[in-house]
Amino acid sequence: MPLSRMSRGLVWLAFAGLATAGWVHMDIVPFHFAHMPAHGIFFAFLGLAQLAYLPVLLRYPENRSTMGWGMMMTGGVVVLWGLTQLGITPFTRSGEPVDTPTVISKIAELTGFTAFVILHFQQKLPNLLYRIGQTLVGVLIVQSVGFAAEAVTGGASQSHHPGVAHGVPGEGEEGGHTHGSYANDYTSDYDWGDVFGSIKSYLTSRTKTGYTWDLPPGFPEPRVPEDNPITEDKVVLGRHLFYDKKLSGNGTFSCGSCHHQDKAFADGLKLPRGSTGMVHPRNSLTLTNSAYSSTLTWANPSLGTIEKQVLVPMFGEFPVELGITGNEEKVLHRFKEDTRYQQLFAEAFPDEQNPFHFVNFAKALASFTRTMISGNSPYDRFIYQRDTSALTDQEQRGLKTFLSEELECHHCHGGFNFTLSTVHDKTVFVEKPFHNTGLYNLDDKGSYPADNTGMFEFTGREKDMGRFRAPTLRNIALTAPYMHDGSMETLEEVIDFYARGGRKIGQGKLAGDGKVNPFKSGFVAGFRITDQEKEDLIAFLHALTDREFVGDPRFSDPFEH
Ligand code: HEC
Ligand code: HEC
Repeated sequence: MPLSRMSRGLVWLAFAGLATAGWVHMDIVPFHFAHMPAHGIFFAFLGLAQLAYLPVLLRYPENRSTMGWGMMMTGGVVVLWGLTQLGITPFTRSGEPVDTPTVISKIAELTGFTAFVILHFQQKLPNLLYRIGQTLVGVLIVQSVGFAAEAVTGGASQSHHPGVAHGVPGEGEEGGHTHGSYANDYTSDYDWGDVFGSIKSYLTSRTKTGYTWDLPPGFPEPRVPEDNPITEDKVVLGRHLFYDKKLSGNGTFSCGSCHHQDKAFADGLKLPRGSTGMVHPRNSLTLTNSAYSSTLTWANPSLGTIEKQVLVPMFGEFPVELGITGNEEKVLHRFKEDTRYQQLFAEAFPDEQNPFHFVNFAKALASFTRTMISGNSPYDRFIYQRDTSALTDQEQRGLKTFLSEELECHHCHGGFNFTLSTVHDKTVFVEKPFHNTGLYNLDDKGSYPADNTGMFEFTGREKDMGRFRAPTLRNIALTAPYMHDGSMETLEEVIDFYARGGRKIGQGKLAGDGKVNPFKSGFVAGFRITDQEKEDLIAFLHALTDREFVGDPRFSDPFEH
């Protein structure tokens, strides 16, 4: 029976949906394979099945079982994904926000499925319910491939891999928790501009500048703002600016004054002072993997790019860091008359007549900072490079402790970058979590010291009091002292604080029991830990140190030879 024109249209629509979904699934195979081979195998199977089906669809479009298979490979796959999100299948929610490929492939599959259902009615085929039953059987078949792949590769280990693929339950799994409320840890208001931008960025990612990221195995590509594509020349310029004291009002300070490479770009101080001697209320942050931070700095929810963030140390007055405000012309002049910078700026911004303006400074500094990617710690060699001897027994025990449900660390420090405030090339729904961990409780109403109220400072909403971003734990052994105000000296102190479920300060201006802070996250509930487990955990945290990163000549001071 020849198909009507409309039916042919529907067949092509189904074709387009399946082709897109199949292509996306094949596209993500290498990424998933690196994290967990079972996932890679699973997506390869799915993608190949969807693509292999296409010629059959074109050849026998009017055939009943063609249609049944089509429904299975579109609607069935969406159902499977839905179960995954609910944590019902062994592929538990990744904890990473739903990423772009997922959104694209699910939309494509739903489109295909809708086309099949309409076709079914159009051709007055009997037994739609039977087809749907068939679809669900297909779900089971596809899922068992997943099971088999996990059995063969030994992949489903909740015991390790806090990475992208596993062990980082998201909200979907939190329903069963017995204490506290976590809703407040996540900012749920998604920025739809972000979502569409992400889809666009994914679809166009193959046409970006020819920059080659030298990424560690298992790491996704960082997201780069559209108006500042990364180039080698910008990175080189940024490196010079980063270490150049000419970039401060009084010529005494550079970014490198507070961000030392040997300390993973923190500075070892409780609180730093700026170029004019003014004390900064917050501890200098590591720049380790800032490229992946969905929000920059300790608590500002609106700093979404490094480009925006670097303007703060350059121009900020409360506190003064580099102190360029009021000295703009002087600072620009110093660079303009330096022949080295004439060349560096011309190379970095070849299309501009006068490249010497601060937007370009920010673009170059951000490009350089974005390359500071660290992923070669013993932990990485153990997880991503599959070197089973990279972690000692003690460190492996510490990893298990870290991932345990009693300690809850991974609910905030989860994912490949050990913080859920993570964004990359393939993220669609950018999560921007902030948490009150119970460090202070000045008045029993939950107040934090006035100069460090966290997210509250920016939103003025009571429930944001004391909420801070969970920093990455990579290179954590190098970045003491800890917390936003540098108020903890050692990792041991940090663990004791979490074990108590908040900090108690007995006397003085800061007295109060953070444990009963009303804004505290439900994840900081306290736990029992033996001395041995504590030592193991600390050993594990030390195994997150990437020696190569802190000695990498690409990030070093170019003025020191
Ligand atoms: C006076 C010391 C100081 C100087 C100088 C300084 N920083 Fe920082 N940096 C800090 C502190 C403190 C923070 C945390 C700020 C906060 O939370 O408010 C920070 C945070 C950052 C972050 C956020 C990291 C993240 O992942 O959230 C980046 C990026 C950064 N600085 C880059 C730079 C660059 C680039 C320069 C030079 C233009 C610079 N800094 C100069 C002290 C300094
Ligand atoms: C509720 C989310 C949450 C949980 C659970 C959590 N953290 Fe944190 N962590 C944070 C936040 C937020 C900060 C920054 C707090 C601040 O400075 O006010 C932080 C800070 C830290 C720091 C200091 C980071 C630095 O650069 O100074 C370490 C170390 C740390 N956490 C380790 C752990 C460990 C180990 C666990 C498990 C026992 C854990 N965290 C559990 C959210 C969390």
